[in-house]
Amino acid sequence: MIAPAKISADFIVHNLASVVVFPEPYRGQGTVPGWRTEELKNASIASREGVIVWVGPAARLSEEVHVEANARFCNGCGLTAVPGFVDSHTHLVYAGDRSDEFEMRVQGRSYLDILAAGGGILRTTEAIRNLPEDLIFVEALERLEQVMQTGVTTIEIKSGYGLDLENELKMLRVIDRLRDESLMRIVPTFMGAHAIPADRRADPEAFVDEICRVWIPEVARLELAMFNDVFTESKAFSVAQSRRILETGLEHGLRAKIHADEVNVLGGVDLAVELGAVSADHLLMTGAEGIEKLKGSGVIPTVLPGTSTYLMESHHAPARKMIEAGLPLAIASDHNPGSCQFLGATIIQALAMLQLRLSASEALIAGTLHAAHALGFGEQIGAIEPGRRMDLALFPGDSFRQIGYQAGSSRVEALIVGGVVAIDRF
Ligand code: NIG
Ligand code: FE
Repeated sequence: MIAPAKISADFIVHNLASVVVFPEPYRGQGTVPGWRTEELKNASIASREGVIVWVGPAARLSEEVHVEANARFCNGCGLTAVPGFVDSHTHLVYAGDRSDEFEMRVQGRSYLDILAAGGGILRTTEAIRNLPEDLIFVEALERLEQVMQTGVTTIEIKSGYGLDLENELKMLRVIDRLRDESLMRIVPTFMGAHAIPADRRADPEAFVDEICRVWIPEVARLELAMFNDVFTESKAFSVAQSRRILETGLEHGLRAKIHADEVNVLGGVDLAVELGAVSADHLLMTGAEGIEKLKGSGVIPTVLPGTSTYLMESHHAPARKMIEAGLPLAIASDHNPGSCQFLGATIIQALAMLQLRLSASEALIAGTLHAAHALGFGEQIGAIEPGRRMDLALFPGDSFRQIGYQAGSSRVEALIVGGVVAIDRF
């Protein structure tokens, strides 16, 4: 009998204590996700040219995998491999300090009141306009390095603190430089419609008109963003304004994302479904009707438990109801200088469990595979499976259940992005 040809690999992580796989992964629009995880004990993972080619028991590696000459061979002893986390919603590029607002909120002022009084997003806008691009870049790069320590391999970053063309482009250029400098996979989102700056308040329609006629075409021409996001909220952008902004983005090849139902239910979820947005985010106030609309729509409901905690909301997004309804729930950090300073994936895993009452398996799937779908990469990343990118977060211990349990203190031993070792303590 002829022995079956072995699979060739140029990168192996061998003898892992545990490898977490998803037996029933979400398969896209109209399908219902499975929420089970399985832990393969004493397992190995092999990849070639950055793509996973084999996952199986360590003892079978030499039988089934041909290790190419010059392959990198890492010892995974005592480590657990999970898919690299995907943080699909962040405002990681910013400047300045809003710790006073943090205290004001503790004393009872609301987020929207602070924004209406010229604080909030508008204060960060002032700081961004005043800080040189190089310094904004350095600060963001430092944050990014901390995020990596929590196991994130893919991160989305939004503009939205420039709020004029010059400064929106400045933010997007910083994000572009981060893409060049960092080993992480970085996904840029344009969010010119994040707030209405004080000097444009007299005529918000003219501001929206400028975003649509000038900013979006320019951002698209310079290829500085993949997505177009809008804050659909009273005191920010109405549904009609949001529709125009998101439709203009679609015409220019920018897929839609939306901040919906964070404080008030205005109709952002309906708009997301109508436009085929890749995700609808926040959803703190979303009720049964909104959940019904999201069913089968392909829009990924993304909830941000760090934000509802940080804003001391009396309740959190109805994540359990979304899971029960068969929705492919995702979670993300929303890291930003005002409404959520929690940074990275591990604390969000913990908060998803503590506040949203997700199981450890649900939190992991929501923060990896489903978050990958929230960026349109649901077939390429987000799970440890042949055919997907070799994106791994390796944590100490023999189970992924330690990650949320350790409530934000867990740190990776190694991080691998597309087969490249980005953090290495092997
Ligand atoms: O997603 N809600 C709007 N935008 C951000 C907050 C930004 C800020 O406060 O600086 C959010 O929570
Ligand atoms: Fe946000």
